[in-house]
Amino acid sequence: MKISVFAPGKLMLLGEHAVVYGYPCIVTAVSSKIKVELENTLSSKIEINAPQVKDVGFVEESIRIFKEKFKFKQGLLIKTSSEFSSQYGFGSSSAVTIATLYGLNKLFNLNLTKKEIFDLGLKVTLNIQKVGSGFDIAAATFGKTLYFIKGGKTIEKLNIKELPLVVGYSGVKASTPKIVQQIKKRLKKEKKEIFNLFDSIGKIVEEGKKSLLEKNYQKLGMLMNENHRLLKILGVSTEKLNQMCKAAIDAGAYGAKLSGAGGGDCMIALVSLSKKEKVEKAIEKTGGKILKVSNNADGVNYEKNI
Ligand code: MEV
Repeated sequence: MKISVFAPGKLMLLGEHAVVYGYPCIVTAVSSKIKVELENTLSSKIEINAPQVKDVGFVEESIRIFKEKFKFKQGLLIKTSSEFSSQYGFGSSSAVTIATLYGLNKLFNLNLTKKEIFDLGLKVTLNIQKVGSGFDIAAATFGKTLYFIKGGKTIEKLNIKELPLVVGYSGVKASTPKIVQQIKKRLKKEKKEIFNLFDSIGKIVEEGKKSLLEKNYQKLGMLMNENHRLLKILGVSTEKLNQMCKAAIDAGAYGAKLSGAGGGDCMIALVSLSKKEKVEKAIEKTGGKILKVSNNADGVNYEKNI
């Protein structure tokens, strides 16, 4: 049998970093996807063809965990491809992990639930990256827009439509595990200050959830600005991300913030449709690249080829 599995990338809406310490966050799945094609073969060999080099380790670890649990011996042919660059911070590693696990589940007819796939995916990424809340794994698995607590303690789908977001890439690739480790180190000396910031970020997420459900974009924009201000104090923003966010707000966005670990990657701006173009142009003027993706996209899915 041959199948193609598709898993979406993600954008953090509110709550990055604090979520690693047990606070909630809100994440949305994006329309750009990772594709993993899987085929069982007659040999016992496993062949992986992954043009984004980083993917290989995640595919291999997914297979190892899956083999350990379900003891299959068959050979496999696996090919990965992506609709987005791994540079953007959309979570290509999580998406490739979930697509591989979901594909193996389908290939071997195991009928695992999405929560079981999520749990396996979390194990794979933690084995490799050592740190992380698992929010990206949740987005790849369940899709849509989620209120999420570390490790999948809470995964709540928010009943909303697509958000009017503009996404700008700063041109710099950031290493999430590295930045998360840096914060962990700093916690030894600055525990009180950092947890004060996390407390405030946690409150923003709770307020943000309400604003999202009420479709109160004015309020949500203000909360995004405040979240960005706190991330700046935390020291994870960059001059470029700050410029892009300021340009978006000056051009009429409801609010803007960096999205993800910081140190580069992307920013997001919440806009009214009438201001969208103006905001995009303003971000481009700072040197940012507009990424045309929609959000609130579906989670992992597959199609049978034969
Ligand atoms: C990175 O995109 C978001 C962080 O909160 C890390 C994580 O939650 O795993 C910094």
